Amino acid sequence: MKSLLLATVTAAGLLLAGTAAASEELAKEQKCTTCHHPTEKKKGPSIAQIKVDTKGKSVDAVVAAVKADDAHKRVKASDDDLKKIVAWMMN
Ligand code: HEC
Repeated sequence: MKSLLLATVTAAGLLLAGTAAASEELAKEQKCTTCHHPTEKKKGPSIAQIKVDTKGKSVDAVVAAVKADDAHKRVKASDDDLKKIVAWMMN
């Protein structure tokens, strides 16, 4: 019983890690990472800074802010992809 529980927890952990890696790939593909470094300020705030700045906001609100921002006028990601990337950046 204990080992079954452990296996379930491990599988859930792997699944989460897989999702995070996929979102990071997506962020690279959509060129978000050219302006957003994990910890250093580039053209845009670091992802660590974004986490702090968007604390308490909803993913939808942040996606709307990203779309409204002139800095992102060359961003072509779909709403779906934006949601995934923004949710990853905020976590
Ligand atoms: C050309 C550079 C550039 C690219 C590419 C870029 N960003 Fe940004 N981003 C910025 C800048 C500059 C800001 C800060 C804008 C401001 O504060 O008005 C910003 C801010 C943000 C914020 C913070 C919004 C907030 O309310 O605090 C998020 C989230 C974000 N970007 C997500 C993304 C995502 C997702 C992508 C890829 C789809 C992306 N960015 C691509 C330059 C960029």
